[in-house]
Amino acid sequence: MSFRHVVITGAGSGIGAALAQAYAQSGVRLSLCGRNSARLDMIAEACRAAGAEVAIGICDVTEADVLQRWLETIDDERPVDLLIANAGIGGAGTLTKDQAEPGAVARQVIEVNTIGVVNTLTPLLPRLIARGAGSIAIISSVAGFLGLPDSPSYSASKAATTTYGEALRRLLKPRGIHVTVVSPGYVETAMSASLPFHRPFLWSAEKAARVIQVAIAKGRGELIFPWQFRFAIRLARILPTRMVDLILMRFRAKDVW
Ligand SMILES: NC(=O)c1ccc[n+]([C@@H]2O[C@H](COP(=O)([O-])OP(=O)(O)OC[C@H]3O[C@@H](n4cnc5c(N)ncnc54)[C@H](OP(=O)(O)O)[C@@H]3O)[C@@H](O)[C@H]2O)c1
Repeated sequence: MSFRHVVITGAGSGIGAALAQAYAQSGVRLSLCGRNSARLDMIAEACRAAGAEVAIGICDVTEADVLQRWLETIDDERPVDLLIANAGIGGAGTLTKDQAEPGAVARQVIEVNTIGVVNTLTPLLPRLIARGAGSIAIISSVAGFLGLPDSPSYSASKAATTTYGEALRRLLKPRGIHVTVVSPGYVETAMSASLPFHRPFLWSAEKAARVIQVAIAKGRGELIFPWQFRFAIRLARILPTRMVDLILMRFRAKDVW
């Protein structure tokens, strides 16, 4: 599958920026959303240099009405055929320390990572369904499969996002719309660089974007990378809960605190 109008939230940095550059070519319109206009401008320039037509939307994914107006406007201009819900927060600022996360942090993580995805996808769903075509990608996380003791709300926000994406995939496939749920492990971005511990099996954002792009093009329903985390997730499903708890608690005690 190739795409003519690609929307990416959180496109000003990290995986979103790498995806924008991966899709940038002549004949493609990119609509890039985020809150930081300076960073979005830089990425937009790089994408224009690669031949893409680029529009920027300064939107916070938690502001449903603003996001809806922007999405409907850009879809009126040229029908969107790929919608990537990538914006998210995580990293050092959302880790537990000697206590559980403060309520305000936990609520913000769920608001951006889960409600933000709902806000990104729901406005255009009726239009995609009416057209009987289109693709959606949701950038979730391997953390959505394992409740990490350092990141309870991040894990929960991604678990909800993954399940939401899986349900949409099953709902929308018979209507001609492909949904790819992407669960990355560690990717070299500002978010993950802020983590105060070793990041095993780290991928570059460019490599992640290339692999995500191929999975979306093939209409794959699920992408979990790297394979080492895919294997660990499958293993955790069959091991006794007590053993998985011990492994995750030990990992935390050894590497973090
Ligand atoms: N890096 C990893 O290791 C890793 C692993 C698994 C999953 N992920 C997921 O991958 C996605 C991208 O993260 P990243 O690693 O590329 O981090 P990043 O470089 O920090 O990028 C996150 C992007 O999200 C945008 N964003 C944050 N809050 C927003 C909001 N309220 N409204 C609109 N945009 C918002 C930010 O742009 P503005 O500041 O301009 O708003 C930023 O461009 C996230 O969903 C993250 O959870 C990352």
